[in-house]
Amino acid sequence: MATINVALIGQGFMGRTHSNGWGQVRKFFNTELKPVMHTVFGQEAENPQAFADNWGWQNASTDWEAVVKSPEIGLVDIVTPNYMHAPVARAAIAAGKPCASEKPIAGTLSDAREMAEAAESANVKTFVWFNYRRVPAVALAHKMVQEGRIGQIRHVRAAYLQDWADENVPLLWRFEKELAGSGAHGDLNAHIIDMTRFVTGEEITEICGAIAETFIKQRAKAGGVAGGGIADGGTSSEGMGEVTVDDTVLFLARFSGGAVASFEAARQATGNQNRNGFEINGTKGSLKFDFERMNELQYYDATLPRAVQGWSTIMCTHAPDHPYIENWWPDAH
Ligand SMILES: NC(=O)c1ccc[n+]([C@@H]2O[C@H](COP(=O)([O-])OP(=O)(O)OC[C@H]3O[C@@H](n4cnc5c(N)ncnc54)[C@H](O)[C@@H]3O)[C@@H](O)[C@H]2O)c1
Repeated sequence: MATINVALIGQGFMGRTHSNGWGQVRKFFNTELKPVMHTVFGQEAENPQAFADNWGWQNASTDWEAVVKSPEIGLVDIVTPNYMHAPVARAAIAAGKPCASEKPIAGTLSDAREMAEAAESANVKTFVWFNYRRVPAVALAHKMVQEGRIGQIRHVRAAYLQDWADENVPLLWRFEKELAGSGAHGDLNAHIIDMTRFVTGEEITEICGAIAETFIKQRAKAGGVAGGGIADGGTSSEGMGEVTVDDTVLFLARFSGGAVASFEAARQATGNQNRNGFEINGTKGSLKFDFERMNELQYYDATLPRAVQGWSTIMCTHAPDHPYIENWWPDAH
């Protein structure tokens, strides 16, 4: 079996989820190459060796440049704060190595463009971790739209709502423009923009009516390094610092097939922990998805006799009808 040596750059929240993924993918999917968990990079204070031992990486390093350049590495996986995606990706592409980056692809539009152009001219394979595409219910929605079940799309309504960012959360990198690029917009709208492009099969052609707000303008300066959750990071005694990104961004858009759309991303939508979803209305039917009920896809079939039309809840856990389920446990497990 051919193998590929993977380097993971970063070991926070996504460092843990990606370690889990690299360790399990071959057990559930018949991939062409077997990924080998070769080296993980982390900051000194995070103790990369302990992370490597816990998650099954063969080596640990505090020097990402050396890791990316190492001839032993075949693929670079980037799970650092957004501003650091571009330099790592540039180094991987320059070394001719495939690289995968967490979303948003970069902290700035110019970095993102430069990364895409560099990958194209070097002919290096890349991708961005838009993981919600692989939720069986979302993949089924994509398939149903392709099959023409909801007809021509007229409305796309997407929202990604979280509620973790109250005033007690310190000034993590997620609140600093220099490190994050943007707030809820890059963090959350990035996912629903990708998800609705994927499900509709259409591109966004126009945006307007955007509004952004930062409700909490100062936060206690964070001490130490990220601990592995969205809001982790101890507070220091250095006082308060400015929040330089948005807490929420809403905007309107138009899709290439003529549909109009609204997008909303928020970090202080009380009561919504990870409510990532959409409603798509077409001429023949509609689809609704809410990640807080991730196995379910809501479907309205407007081609049925009017007397029996209504929303139905599809439990997307039946193999082989529902994407990826045959790679998982028996139905509904
Ligand atoms: N696909 C998803 O659903 C999803 C979910 C969460 C985060 N993300 C993305 O993954 C990336 C990493 O997010 P995370 O939640 O794992 O972050 P995190 O704060 O938990 O971890 C960040 C890692 O990067 C390292 N790092 C390097 N330079 C740093 C610096 N200057 N400040 C802080 N840490 C630094 C840290 O040592 C740590 O190992 C981000 O781009 C984020 O947008 C994606």
